[in-house]
Amino acid sequence: MSFKMQTNVSSRENNHNPPHSTMMTIREKEEYISNFNFPFCDESTKYEKVAKIGQGTFGEVFKARDKSNPKKFVAMKKVLMENEKEGFPITALREIRILQLLKHENVVNLIEICRTKASQANRYRSTFYLVFDFCEHDLAGLLSNVNVKFSLGEIKKVMQQLLNGLYYIHSNKILHRDMKAANVLITKNGVLKLADFGLARAFSSSKNGQPNRFTNRVVTLWYRPPELLLGERNYGPPVDLWGAGCIMAEMWTRSPIMQGNSEHQQLTLISQLCGSINPQVWPGVENLELYKKMDLPPSQKRKVRERLKPYLKDPYAIDLLDKLLVLDPNKRADSDTALNHDFFWTDPMPCELGNMLANHTQSMFEFLAPPRRGTQMRHHSLPRPTTSTVQDSGYQDRVF
Ligand SMILES: Nc1ncnc2c1ncn2[C@@H]1O[C@H](COP(=O)(O)OP(=O)(O)OP(=O)(O)O)[C@@H](O)[C@H]1O
Ligand SMILES: [Mg+2]
Repeated sequence: MSFKMQTNVSSRENNHNPPHSTMMTIREKEEYISNFNFPFCDESTKYEKVAKIGQGTFGEVFKARDKSNPKKFVAMKKVLMENEKEGFPITALREIRILQLLKHENVVNLIEICRTKASQANRYRSTFYLVFDFCEHDLAGLLSNVNVKFSLGEIKKVMQQLLNGLYYIHSNKILHRDMKAANVLITKNGVLKLADFGLARAFSSSKNGQPNRFTNRVVTLWYRPPELLLGERNYGPPVDLWGAGCIMAEMWTRSPIMQGNSEHQQLTLISQLCGSINPQVWPGVENLELYKKMDLPPSQKRKVRERLKPYLKDPYAIDLLDKLLVLDPNKRADSDTALNHDFFWTDPMPCELGNMLANHTQSMFEFLAPPRRGTQMRHHSLPRPTTSTVQDSGYQDRVF
């Protein structure tokens, strides 16, 4: 991918030399801008929008067809410029830089950056799009569709690919910081891609003994790990593994397992599932900024296994989940350990998703799906199984 912000206005690649800026009239400037030829940033007219498939915090996402290759579909994510006084948003630049670095089967592929032509109609301001290979589904969309049933082998394949993606990005010193089902894409052939690097950042172990001071206002609340909720700023890859654990449980429960509506309530839900947060189970937690300020439930027993047993019949699945949803980030399984877990190496082995997905010819995205059940869920209970379907080698897929 070649994308460079072309700031050198007298570039030879543009066939015209700009008049000296101090001598330009407004009209001349406008004409200059609309005729400017960005050599590394094609016009978005090479794609034809087909449908809107996402409405994120940072802009809209469209499915589009490549006009030069009508069989090829892309996803175009609009860069939101409305609040920008200083030109191209730094957050989008960060996302682009990270996506340019990451090239892996299980990470969404950024093809290029496109722009609309500046004209009078858009007040001489281009709109920019991040253009990705199109993926037919996102995991939130799939999970919200009761007709989509994952066998145990298929769940293993989803989790194995997700952890492979995390292993790769963490090896490249990138934290995702927004793990959730809607940010996990799946192609019609069953290939999983981590997506939405809008909150991602590079990390390195703290320099000369100085702890990192990253922002802890990241990760969607329901998937946010306890260390971030308690104000930790010197965090690392375990923040993404907590999200992986939440997503893993959701493969069976079909809706997010801890749906707090405030940071305090999220921590309460976590304590009710994973046990009380204290220095016995998590040495050093007492030094976190919010530990003493938050009034958290004392003497809660850890109930991960007990509470998830009605959903996850497989003992290896429960065991892996128990190792991911660990309060102390230093003791939480990393992606390498998780990938070596017996869950992935016992029968039924991970199994391709392509055949199952072939039964579903309609794309499934969170944006297009009805709101998932459970937003009104009672605070300290997991969603209750309502129907049970399909016996698959002793495994029950429960639908909500
Ligand atoms: N390459 C793609 N193929 C298909 N759909 C995609 C693709 N990229 C994004 N989407 C869809 O668009 C949605 C929003 O995209 P993304 O998460 O990157 O944007 P966002 O604005 O950061 O979203 P949010 O703030 O809601 O997390 C995704 O959840 C997914 O449904
Ligand atoms: Mg997103």
